[in-house]
Amino acid sequence: MIFVTGGGGYIGSVVVRLLVENDYEVIVYDNLSRGHLSAIDKRAIFIKGDLADKDLLLEVFKTYPIEAVLHFASYIEVGESVKYPTIFFDNNVKNCINLLNSMCENGCYKIIFSSSAAVYGEPLSLPIRENHPLLPINPYGETKRLIEELLFSYEKYCGLKFISLRYFNVAGAYDNLGEDHRPETHLIPLIVKAALGKERIFKIYGDDYPTKDGTCIRDYIHVYDLAIAHILALKKLLKEEKSEVYNLGSEKGYSVKEVFETACEVIGKKIPYEIVERRPGDVPILIASSEKIKKELGWKRERGDLKIIIKDTFEWQKNFPFGYPD
Ligand code: UFG
Repeated sequence: MIFVTGGGGYIGSVVVRLLVENDYEVIVYDNLSRGHLSAIDKRAIFIKGDLADKDLLLEVFKTYPIEAVLHFASYIEVGESVKYPTIFFDNNVKNCINLLNSMCENGCYKIIFSSSAAVYGEPLSLPIRENHPLLPINPYGETKRLIEELLFSYEKYCGLKFISLRYFNVAGAYDNLGEDHRPETHLIPLIVKAALGKERIFKIYGDDYPTKDGTCIRDYIHVYDLAIAHILALKKLLKEEKSEVYNLGSEKGYSVKEVFETACEVIGKKIPYEIVERRPGDVPILIASSEKIKKELGWKRERGDLKIIIKDTFEWQKNFPFGYPD
């Protein structure tokens, strides 16, 4: 069985759907503080639980024959992490230690970890490869870096094997599963909300960055392509006794202005916008090299085009105008 923390979240729910479709038996563990019950595939076993609850975690690991863990549950917002760093260390790092301990104390030694491009900080070279120094510039990225360090320690001292997937900017929707963060802070869903009149105006956070048009450049990856990479990583992890770290991005950079203009074109609307102050914690540019995962796992992008990513987000928001019901 495969144990998925945060399976009610945006990325977790898509991966759970693909796991089930690929005939894996899945247990979702989520406290639903940020995830959505209706996003969890009904074919998975659902346990409402918190990673702070060590007793419940131990009971679950004793009850079910868990072969591997996919760990999505975490706080993800850069801005929030700058404001409330201690909550991030508590929820992301401390709770991850609870999970790793429960695993190792019960003979489960395989984990796929949702890491982030935020571990790199301001890139010293582009595209960013996995061996780029880890110099996060916000508490969120710091928590992901710390957990990666812990994974290496657990490998050394407890025999854990892991695959850490460093996500770049994930967007889009799959089937009836989409992005519903409350509040929403991510670029593409916010542009779409402004297009649908759910936000008064779209705000560009700063146009004085050292980039071609002054707005930040990011590498956008479709949630489906990202989810497929988890299935490939899981297969490898179940087969081989080897830990790995992989970037997951599209290897293309788009500025905030370019994403906005593409969205106006795809949606066929002049979306209202304004330029406002920079958002603390943002780096000017992030572009991935995903050569390693392409070469080693045979991963390829099927829905990589930015227009498809925006269109899928738009369709999902039209179908779920108020987001998930629960
Ligand atoms: N942005 C705006 N206006 C908005 C929202 C965002 O201009 O209303 C800008 C941001 O300033 C940034 C870019 O759009 O320059 C992307 O911002 P997002 O909030 O969509 O994404 P981030 O790059 O800040 O972070 C996301 C995830 C992180 C992950 C990172 C990896 O939230 O968890 O991608 O690249 F680490």
